[in-house]
Amino acid sequence: MIGVDRSTQVANSGPDALIFAIAGLGLKKGARVGVTSMTFIASASAIALNGFRPVFVDVDPETMLWRTDQVLELVRKGAVDALVAVHLYGQMLDLEEIAREAGERGIPIIEDAAQAIGSTRNGKSPGAHGAATCLSFDPTKVIGACGSGGALVTDRDDIARTARLLRHPCLVRIPGRAQVLEERDARRVP
Ligand SMILES: Cc1ncc(COP(=O)(O)O)c(C=O)c1O
Repeated sequence: MIGVDRSTQVANSGPDALIFAIAGLGLKKGARVGVTSMTFIASASAIALNGFRPVFVDVDPETMLWRTDQVLELVRKGAVDALVAVHLYGQMLDLEEIAREAGERGIPIIEDAAQAIGSTRNGKSPGAHGAATCLSFDPTKVIGACGSGGALVTDRDDIARTARLLRHPCLVRIPGRAQVLEERDARRVP
């Protein structure tokens, strides 16, 4: 269902998964992160909550997905340091060319697959191109938990470790977030 076979880290929600995944990229302060201008707010606010700057991309009126040509232009111009690629309404983005060009320039991609669990494009699932892929198990989603839920899947050890640290709120400070002390936070992070 998801094209990553390594590490799955649970989160309280889709937005938490996005915040953790973006934090795990280790971007510099003020980094610019390309994201579609048509999505649930968390795709962009997770960038801002990490202290980074969302760079909004126009959408194709047919699909309401981001315009590949604009993303490629940003990548080629060096106008973004990372990308959040949002698969929307069960539609997969075409990420082949973007991933190739971004990869050549060391620009990582986080896939927001909150609305795309089970989707495929050219035989590939979400996760085929991203450094990490974020899922939501909100009751409104394809697979719904009771109340809320999320996860990120990644084959990068640094992102997996950041997610393990951040989901225990007192172990690491998350920019822009209140830190709450709970009993479970005392547990050691593996
Ligand atoms: C594309 C996208 N990303 C992230 C989220 C946030 O996930 P959650 O429903 O767990 O808050 C949503 C929720 O609608 C979404 O549609």
